[in-house]
Amino acid sequence: MQKLKSKANAKANANVKNSAITTNKRLYTERQKSHFLVHSVACLGTEVHLAACPLEFNKGNSSTGACEDGMPAVVSCVAGPLYTHNVALKKKLKVSKNVRLKGGTHTAEGRVEVMRGGKWGTVCDDRWNLQSASVVCRELGFGSAKEALTGARMGQGVGPIHMNEVQCTGQERSIWSCHYKNITEEDCMHTEDASVRCNTPYMGYEKTVRIGGGRSRYEGRVEVLQALPNGTQRWGLLCGDGWSTKEAMVVCRQLGLGYANHGLKETWYWDSSNVTDMVWSGVKCTGSEMSLTQCQRHKVFNCQKAVARFSAGVICSETASDLVLNATLVQQSVYIEDRPLHMLYCAAEEDCLSKTAAQANWPYGHRRLLRFSSQIHNVGRADFRPKLGRHSWVWHACHGHYHSMDIFTHYDILSVNGTKMAEGHKASFCLEDSECQEGISKRYECANFGEQGITVGCWDLYRHDIDCQWIDITDVKPGNYILQVVINPNQEVSEMDYTNNAMKCSCKYDGHRIWVHNCHIGDAFSDEVERKFEKYPGQFNNQIMN
Ligand SMILES: *[C@@H]1O[C@H](CO)[C@@H](O)[C@H](O)[C@H]1NC(C)=O
Ligand SMILES: *[C@@H]1O[C@H](CO)[C@@H](O)[C@H](O)[C@H]1NC(C)=O
Ligand SMILES: *[C@@H]1O[C@H](CO)[C@@H](O)[C@H](O)[C@H]1NC(C)=O
Ligand SMILES: *[C@@H]1O[C@H](CO)[C@@H](O)[C@H](O)[C@H]1NC(C)=O
Ligand SMILES: *[C@@H]1O[C@H](CO)[C@@H](O)[C@H](O)[C@H]1NC(C)=O
Ligand SMILES: *[C@@H]1O[C@H](CO)[C@@H](O)[C@H](O)[C@H]1NC(C)=O
Repeated sequence: MQKLKSKANAKANANVKNSAITTNKRLYTERQKSHFLVHSVACLGTEVHLAACPLEFNKGNSSTGACEDGMPAVVSCVAGPLYTHNVALKKKLKVSKNVRLKGGTHTAEGRVEVMRGGKWGTVCDDRWNLQSASVVCRELGFGSAKEALTGARMGQGVGPIHMNEVQCTGQERSIWSCHYKNITEEDCMHTEDASVRCNTPYMGYEKTVRIGGGRSRYEGRVEVLQALPNGTQRWGLLCGDGWSTKEAMVVCRQLGLGYANHGLKETWYWDSSNVTDMVWSGVKCTGSEMSLTQCQRHKVFNCQKAVARFSAGVICSETASDLVLNATLVQQSVYIEDRPLHMLYCAAEEDCLSKTAAQANWPYGHRRLLRFSSQIHNVGRADFRPKLGRHSWVWHACHGHYHSMDIFTHYDILSVNGTKMAEGHKASFCLEDSECQEGISKRYECANFGEQGITVGCWDLYRHDIDCQWIDITDVKPGNYILQVVINPNQEVSEMDYTNNAMKCSCKYDGHRIWVHNCHIGDAFSDEVERKFEKYPGQFNNQIMN
């Protein structure tokens, strides 16, 4: 093994440790230092941390140490494409398209997913370690791995499991170049999905936002640090108008407090002894930003109630739920029913039919319904609980149970260009554990005003034959369409991942019969396959997606 002497300009492996690019001036001062702790280091370049390299420490106590013919070692790191503003550099640094991280609180952590044959799948955690995790991190433009996590710590995937017993040497450019095994049926389950936390450059995001007044350090009124024209800074509150979970997600991420449980529009019930003035309004985030400064906001402050009581607040949480619909079951259970109007009074009362039903000659005639079963799994790390407290649940007399969420799912028939051809009402549900994975017990039950929710590892089943579990397609003309179901569409309840909330199928309707194919979760396929699907929903070869 060749030793790398501590010499000036020696390029230590930049990946071993991330740091900001240092200015020449600072480098110069650093080099004037005369105290050396380590006088020799010999990395292979594949280590995940400098401490993992063979090091030789200075034994004596001389101020010049053993580096008489050398100078302090320096490194020059290059931030990954996600962290650089240099456009040319961004283009040059290619990020893998065959690997992604899902379900983390930010882009540099999550469940490892890899693509094979146009289909995303997970990695089983047998032998999963920092070495292999670092290959994934570097492949995605981050530093080495901080943690290699096992046991679905970033939630469970739902597609195939593509790899098992991954063993990288650390030199590979992609996890696909590492030694691995294919899984066999009994080998692995999604409860063993591997995940990773990557090292990233320190960006100081948490310095420009703070929360206060809440009951714990995980909740409070949001304040931002605002730069004033005279060069000073001050903290200020944010207007609560339009504030939602998406904006709260950014604040929680920015502060390293995990996922957003709630984005609060009113915060009057929190301690308001030291409140500041309101400084920002109209903050709108997509939810994936690293910092509030990356979100849009009003240029000119404009807030309906510009007092602290109505300022924006957040409740953050280290864990969150993650709901996914069983696409296979939708495809297997779908059928058309012509249901007589006299059997639909209850459904009409609950708004489960399209608008034209009001003009029908009740009780004569029928509605054409597209029916299917929905099985909604919680594959996250926390129970899914309705946003509303019991006091605001709505009693649905006709169906005889309480609804705890106004809009829990959207059922739609879309045209090829994405316009809605039939809207299967905004279904509200009574949430409960219908069944659970082995070893997990049910906790939520709708009957008798019971607690509502979906436990991790359980699912809520709405069978195709229950009232309102349909889309009213009476007015839909023959053609090719997309059947779409979106769970928690308004992101009212926090989840680890919203990109798996939509399920799509291709439909061909000839006016009498319907063919439904290729049902899949929105993030299951490569962009290329997904584009083909959207372009030809009816004709699309169903072999490609199976
Ligand atoms: C090592 O050197 C420092 C500074 O030169 C001195 O303060 C300290 O006492 C020395 N320690 C020993 C163990 O000689
Ligand atoms: C794993 O399966 C894929 C596709 O079925 C095959 O192409 C590949 O050679 C297999 N790899 C190993 C390591 O067995
Ligand atoms: C800067 O401006 C703010 C508000 O306009 C004012 O409160 C503050 O005193 C000023 N600070 C200095 C140092 O001028
Ligand atoms: C309010 O500010 C005072 C003075 O800075 C401080 O002593 C007190 O703890 C603060 N209260 C809260 C709730 O932060
Ligand atoms: C989804 O539904 C299919 C068909 O009923 C079933 O075989 C499968 O086990 C379900 N998937 C999960 C994850 O439960
Ligand atoms: C989208 O498709 C529908 C039905 O095919 C059609 O009525 C509508 O005009 C189309 N809209 C656009 C913007 O192309």
